[in-house]
Amino acid sequence: MSGAPVICIDGPSGAGKGTLSLRVAEYLGWHLLDSGALYRVIGHACSIQGVDWQDEAAVVKTTRGLDVRFDPAGDGVAVWLDGQEVSREIRSEQGSLGASAVATLPGVRIALLDRQRSLAKPPGLVADGRDMGTVVFPEAPLKIFLTASVDARARRRQAQLMDRGESVSLPRLLEAINERDQRDSGRSVSPLVAAEDAVHIDSSTLSAGAVFHRVLHCVAEKGFKPREPM
Ligand code: DC
Repeated sequence: MSGAPVICIDGPSGAGKGTLSLRVAEYLGWHLLDSGALYRVIGHACSIQGVDWQDEAAVVKTTRGLDVRFDPAGDGVAVWLDGQEVSREIRSEQGSLGASAVATLPGVRIALLDRQRSLAKPPGLVADGRDMGTVVFPEAPLKIFLTASVDARARRRQAQLMDRGESVSLPRLLEAINERDQRDSGRSVSPLVAAEDAVHIDSSTLSAGAVFHRVLHCVAEKGFKPREPM
């Protein structure tokens, strides 16, 4: 594994990992890996190529041939597939379905290991996902496991959708989140579990800023310094 330090931020969807990872990466001036976006872009590439999400051999072939690029964007990462920006498409409902289907395939997870590990370059990497601390970067010096109650995650998701002018009822969101949790935690390969040495943070009653400050405390304890101001 590379010599660059890695901070892993794992947890269920909607706990605030994306925002937190971005802020930590910006604070340190480190690279960012949004591993969920990788699964999303594979699902999307399969749809374009007419590959069935359940056909493991074909999905692995698509994964190995993936021409994908991630660029920092204002509030996350912009994702390019074969030279075309697909950031919006991969974050659609269809994108979520494809990602969670291909993420259950062991061959796909293995095919992604080297690609993910190759991103651990100096000065360091903040890796956001489900299995960053358990499988991809087990030697990482700092692992955060960020959770929140199902209720808090559903309310946040509802607020996000309302900001985008979409409205979905809370009971439907609760049901969708419960289903996704079961899929992520119940699958046989790389299920969502906290690494033994992870620091647990429950964000149910904390603001994004409060979570960030807790993590900064852990970051400072490990001796990682903020990037020099430009
Ligand atoms: O974090 P996200 O919602 O963008 O993730 C999309 C899907 O990919 C979700 O179903 C969980 C899965 N995933 C995974 O299995 N392992 C990861 N390291 C990241 C995401």
